[in-house]
Amino acid sequence: MTPKLKFTIDLNAHPTPAEARDASMQDPAFGRVFTDHMVVIKWTDELGWHDARVTARVPFSIDPACAVLHYGQEIFEGMKAYRGEDGALSLFRPFENARRFQHSAERLMMPSLPEDLFVEAVEQLVSIDRDWTPVGSGSLYLRPFMFATEVFLGIKPASAYTFCVIACPVGPYFKGGDRPVTVWMSEHYTRAAIGGTGAAKCGGNYAGGLAAQVEASRNGCDQVVFLDASERKWVEELGGMNIFFVMKDGSLVTPPLSGTILPGITRASVIELAREAGHTVREERYSIDQWASDAKSGDLAEAFVCGTAATLVSIGEIRAASGGFVIGAGAIGQTTAALKARLNAIQRGQQPGPAGWSHRIAL
Ligand SMILES: Cc1ncc(COP(=O)(O)O)c(C=O)c1O
Repeated sequence: MTPKLKFTIDLNAHPTPAEARDASMQDPAFGRVFTDHMVVIKWTDELGWHDARVTARVPFSIDPACAVLHYGQEIFEGMKAYRGEDGALSLFRPFENARRFQHSAERLMMPSLPEDLFVEAVEQLVSIDRDWTPVGSGSLYLRPFMFATEVFLGIKPASAYTFCVIACPVGPYFKGGDRPVTVWMSEHYTRAAIGGTGAAKCGGNYAGGLAAQVEASRNGCDQVVFLDASERKWVEELGGMNIFFVMKDGSLVTPPLSGTILPGITRASVIELAREAGHTVREERYSIDQWASDAKSGDLAEAFVCGTAATLVSIGEIRAASGGFVIGAGAIGQTTAALKARLNAIQRGQQPGPAGWSHRIAL
């Protein structure tokens, strides 16, 4: 077992003045505004995890032969800290992120960061940069990540890594706030194949999805939905979100965790909250043809995407090279809105949720 690491705190000598900080937090574009600090923990074959510190957020200096630049050995997480009405800050199910990070590390042949250390690192950053957490509907988006730092050209697991956490105050993920999104169905590109890295949160998955995302933007869409790589028939997930279908009878369907989609923490939470609210939820395959015909017949009432960054957002329309269709008259769905409100209330400490979901940070 790794002995408990003690964090060295080396505060930013030139933090952003309060006025400039507050101005940059007014309606920040997602992922563009960063806080004053970061957490860094090092790992080597010889020392294991060591040198945990909170420091000013400064650029890394890396060798041009650094392994991550060539072979992409990198994983990350996405989570948020929320400010409750009483001013307290909470994380949402942070140990789930810690466990997913470990699974991603295992798939990419990287060292396993103990869950407690992952959560403590995130807590340290949130606590030190707490004034960057927006009030109201915004939140502090946290980005833990790990990359290979060994200076070596060759295809093998690296012998040295850096784990880091950075943070940015954010508002809504999609421009234009709470509105249904239009989604491009990629008929050419796929995201992940069986035996690949689809269930891991590694940078390479997202690089591979960019061509489809650009195709989506060129066709006036907000996001791209991928089909399975072998039959090109079954709906899998979006570039950065999972997907749910709400049928006319009130039941919900979501693609099963087949190994090719990311096991979203929002997805798991929605399944639990929907069941709590009396909906039947089925984790089963749903084909693109079925989706089109259910949308046209009205058997499908709503569809929504979900993830930490976007929360729950209705899908209003699907577009594809071979045609498209509208879902539920293109409006925000009622079930979607109710599940979103419940999740939001738990995340912000306005309603109690299942044990362990809201994780208060001691400031
Ligand atoms: C590909 C992909 N699917 C789904 C999700 C949703 O996961 P979560 O709900 O844990 O944010 C994300 C976001 O992390 C993602 O990148």
